[in-house]
Amino acid sequence: MKPVIAAFPATRLRRLRTSPAIRALTRQTLLTPGDFIWPVFVRDGEGVVEPIASMPGVNRLSVDKVVEAAREAHALGIPAICLFPYTDPAKKTEDCAEAWNPENLSNRATRAIKDAVPDIAVMTDVALDPYNITGHDGFTEDGVIVNDRTVEALVKQALSQARAGADIIGPSDMMDGRIGAIRAALEAEGFPNVLLLSYAAKYASGFYGPFRDAVGASGALKGDKQTYQMQPGNSDEAMRLIERDLLEGADMIMVKPGMPYLDICQRAKEMFGAPTFAYQVSGEYAMLAGAFDNGWLDRDKVMMESLTAFKRAGCDGVLTYFAPAAARLLNG
Ligand code: PBG
Repeated sequence: MKPVIAAFPATRLRRLRTSPAIRALTRQTLLTPGDFIWPVFVRDGEGVVEPIASMPGVNRLSVDKVVEAAREAHALGIPAICLFPYTDPAKKTEDCAEAWNPENLSNRATRAIKDAVPDIAVMTDVALDPYNITGHDGFTEDGVIVNDRTVEALVKQALSQARAGADIIGPSDMMDGRIGAIRAALEAEGFPNVLLLSYAAKYASGFYGPFRDAVGASGALKGDKQTYQMQPGNSDEAMRLIERDLLEGADMIMVKPGMPYLDICQRAKEMFGAPTFAYQVSGEYAMLAGAFDNGWLDRDKVMMESLTAFKRAGCDGVLTYFAPAAARLLNG
């Protein structure tokens, strides 16, 4: 599309910015609480709200507190909450069996939320890193991440999440073939309506640091994730991953991190037209929250500007730790 612009003064583009009323009429991108998925960190215990040092304002919550959070989110109009468990180091093993334990933290939290707030969608994370002594998303053999044996474990993990009542399953592991394998298992086991939001374009990013603190994986992680997550300079590869995951049965796709990868969001949306989400990850949150806390940036203004950018780039929604704060602001 080529914009039509007549010569000055027939066209004075400032006319379109003259007042709040005119600016409201010409606003192209509107953010609503319905655009957010709120990621929360779950830990053991009761009545626990434990601050995360590298994510000021974000806490690890015990299951009862997660239920309260879900209730709050629902009241604010946030349609989905996404669970990330902080796993007791004693439960991390080489076989990662805790990942598909029906009684693991993620499954207990899912059941508790679906009991108390059935109308909020619960999204869960598929990847072995919270349960793995190596801190990696997949099994390791002689220091190499092995794909196919990992996919079998991811299928078990996904099924245990579906049985617990998860509405949306988010494979964030970046193994090849896992979307197809999980989709087939969900169909075979009687979960035809469980959605898959694939972390399709996930980069090997430095912006995940605070998240790894939050889930207790940073101490465990040996090496980096570059053999399965994408290198930051690549764009065509992201399109191939997204197309592949859509063909394997993903309902929605994600680009992660968010703000440094808005070009990927835009290209993905234009190319495939699928429901597209961005993850404004822990490091992006930490960067902004740190600046807000120091008085270097205006909290409300910059939070909203950062979230609006995702929608302008073509995203249908955003996973963001700012979800409740932004929703509160939008609700006035
Ligand atoms: C791991 C996973 C990560 C995040 C979500 N799932 C970290 C990683 O890949 O190391 C990061 C989210 C964030 O930084 O907010 N399966």
